[in-house]
Amino acid sequence: MEPKYKNSHYTHVIRIVLGMVAIAVFGMLIRPLVLPRSFGEYGHYRPGAVEDETNRPMRNMTNESCMDCHKNIKKIHRKGVHESVSCEVCHASYADHIQNGEYYAPMPVVRGEDIKALCLRCHNKIIRARPPESIKMIALPEHLEEQNVGTHHVCNQCHHVHAPLKWVKEAREMMGLSEKDEDKPAWMN
Ligand code: HEC
Ligand code: HEC
Ligand code: HEC
Ligand code: HEC
Repeated sequence: MEPKYKNSHYTHVIRIVLGMVAIAVFGMLIRPLVLPRSFGEYGHYRPGAVEDETNRPMRNMTNESCMDCHKNIKKIHRKGVHESVSCEVCHASYADHIQNGEYYAPMPVVRGEDIKALCLRCHNKIIRARPPESIKMIALPEHLEEQNVGTHHVCNQCHHVHAPLKWVKEAREMMGLSEKDEDKPAWMN
């Protein structure tokens, strides 16, 4: 007797093939719509990529651009040992604060206890890979013990965050220790 469903061995194959053909046709129709225009001009290199990158809005700027508005900080920061440190490292990107040259949103400011972690990001002795002559390193609580203060003290109680040696130098001058003193510590050179 003949089998009832003669073709049952391959109808599923036909369905898969039809499905694949449908996907291929759909792909060919949609390709020109989704491909960037300049793609293919130079093979797989898309020349328009350069333009896209140059049109991307800038997020970061120089310290100079912050100082246009923050004149008081400018006076302090310029004279301090942090002169070379970027404002944006300790605060945030220019673009989060200023847009089209106008104030846009408040800039984050690290305050209180959190200042310790901010400073130690660069000054922690535990960062062993850094050459000691590049940035002066300290360890906690030793640094505070050397100054004879409690370990709860925060860095900005003695160091101006924008010019860390400002108050240290002023205190030494008040004590009559001039910059030329023989016992001047190495950090003052
Ligand atoms: C177009 C002027 C302008 C520029 C440029 C500018 N700021 Fe400001 N900034 C302001 C104004 C306005 C305020 C808010 C007024 C205020 O609190 O004194 C402010 C506030 C701040 C504050 C204090 C926020 C607070 O809560 O106390 C910080 C920190 C700050 N800006 C950092 C920066 C840094 C870093 C840059 C550069 C990346 C920068 N600003 C560039 C205008 C500017
Ligand atoms: C080493 C990290 C660091 C750098 C670099 C730095 N700041 Fe700050 N800034 C701070 C901290 C921390 C505070 C909060 C100080 C406080 O509460 O005593 C602050 C406070 C401020 C304030 C708020 C005013 C105030 O005294 O509360 C402004 C405005 C500001 N910074 C702008 C700048 C600008 C502009 C630059 C770059 C020229 C800059 N900062 C670079 C860490 C930094
Ligand atoms: C992004 C890294 C960075 C951060 C964050 C930072 N500093 Fe500095 N600090 C520097 C650099 C760079 C110098 C200059 C090093 C040099 O010229 O010898 C410096 C110098 C100093 C010096 C002078 C060292 C000496 O005797 O020459 C002190 C003190 C200091 N920083 C304290 C602080 C304090 C306090 C904070 C937190 C508010 C802080 N730093 C956050 C990078 C940083
Ligand atoms: C009680 C005051 C005080 C506090 C708080 C303090 N420092 Fe200092 N720090 C000083 C003095 C004073 C010096 C000058 C060097 C000396 O004579 O020991 C100094 C020097 C430094 C130096 C340069 C070290 C060197 O080898 O020349 C760094 C870096 C520094 N401090 C970072 C910090 C950081 C980061 C904090 C917070 C975790 C902090 N300090 C908290 C008083 C203080």
